[in-house]
Amino acid sequence: MTDARRAALTERLRAIGQQHVLNWADELDAAGLERLLSQLERLELERLPRLIESVTSTDTHAAPTSVEPPALIECSSDDDPRTREARQAGEELLSRGAVATFLVAGGQGTRLGYDGPKGRFPVGPLTNRSLFAYHAHRVLATSRRYGTPAPLYVMTSEANHESTVAAFDEAQHFGLEPSQVHFLIQGMLPAVDREGRMLLAAKDSLALSPDGHGGCFEAMRRSGAFDDMRARGVEHVFYFQVDNPLAQVLDPCFLGHHALGGADMSTKVVSKTEPGEKVGVLGVVDGRTAVIEYSDLPADLAEARDDQGRLRFRAGNIAIHLLRLDFIARLLEGELRLPVHRANKKVPYVDSSGRRVEPTEPNAIKLEMFVFDALPLAERSITQEVRREDEFAPVKNAEGVDSPATASEALSDQAKRWMTAAGLALPRGPAEVGPLFALDQDEFLRNLTKSDFGPVFDRA
Ligand code: UTP
Repeated sequence: MTDARRAALTERLRAIGQQHVLNWADELDAAGLERLLSQLERLELERLPRLIESVTSTDTHAAPTSVEPPALIECSSDDDPRTREARQAGEELLSRGAVATFLVAGGQGTRLGYDGPKGRFPVGPLTNRSLFAYHAHRVLATSRRYGTPAPLYVMTSEANHESTVAAFDEAQHFGLEPSQVHFLIQGMLPAVDREGRMLLAAKDSLALSPDGHGGCFEAMRRSGAFDDMRARGVEHVFYFQVDNPLAQVLDPCFLGHHALGGADMSTKVVSKTEPGEKVGVLGVVDGRTAVIEYSDLPADLAEARDDQGRLRFRAGNIAIHLLRLDFIARLLEGELRLPVHRANKKVPYVDSSGRRVEPTEPNAIKLEMFVFDALPLAERSITQEVRREDEFAPVKNAEGVDSPATASEALSDQAKRWMTAAGLALPRGPAEVGPLFALDQDEFLRNLTKSDFGPVFDRA
């Protein structure tokens, strides 16, 4: 059996010029050989040459001929009839269970350097509530509010799948029905050298890494999550990332604008703080909405101001999207394809003499797909500007900017703003409002009249 599998893989590898990865196969014990063969079988080998070619070739893409800022739907209160109409449309979708939540949590979290899935990281200012708990509680609170359970799909990767499932099990799914929560594992892609040859991390294993958050579409197809959504009558998917505890999951207003605008894919943005802030911005590039990475935005555009003195290209991407399920279907049918990006990295590898090398300089190219590359494929897209202090506080680094400390402070500051609005005295230390107590300020004010839980407003 193993011989037949090995022979079949040798053939397939030879056809794509990658047979060297089996060079040490004769030396391996049964377990080692099994590991290597099953890694290879899980890769779509026939797809690799096209992907590798796209990151190793020196072709430069044609420069865009026009770049404009996108039209922004700005935050406003329900006094604005457009906002009211959008909220009602979003609420109607939520009430009839037409929206699924999709949380991407397959990243390696290298900058945070935490031993475990990032979603387990405690950020609650007083309760130490984890990132997973914030997200799951928002799904739960929204499901309760609209009387219909919204499904939560959690994308993991091979390295953190088991510990992610365990985190949900240990917390009894944070109060969600177990049938409401689905886990799916994203794909892996091999690291290659500058000649495009796959690298071995050891004689019995390839150097693999998760295929990026853009791998979510393929993961939806492979795992059956896409078919499951269809069967449940899901029409839109709310995509968000594990590192932002302020993400307003299933925000009805955003949903309504997206649906009423007939958009395929929509994005929430916050205003950039200064021209040099390292965040991708949304722009309309040759007529299509796209994310322009900060390193690709020319300085004159990054610094340009409108007649009110605001940055013209200020729409900072916070990686919160809505996608129409029919649009995802088109991505999956292969009609629309995401490009692959390269990242130059130091990747330890086994050289041609069988020695393991720990490089001191970047030696390898990692392949990754980005979810926002789907945006220019959308025929219609809306961009909604929201307040950073209410919706964006990512945990990226162990310390300093975008760290657990800044996220925790942002959560506390939000709680204090709501307390101030309620005329409550502020505690000297941090404050915290759990999503099950209130998802927004209006709900906080309403629920306060029912009960006062002190500086921790919670019902978890
Ligand atoms: P980042 O690009 O910030 O990566 O991911 P990261 O893994 O969290 O951290 P670093 O760069 O290694 O320090 C943004 C979001 O996309 C998810 C992450 O889990 C996070 O929610 N992601 C990223 C995936 O789900 N899969 C990937 O392959 C990459």
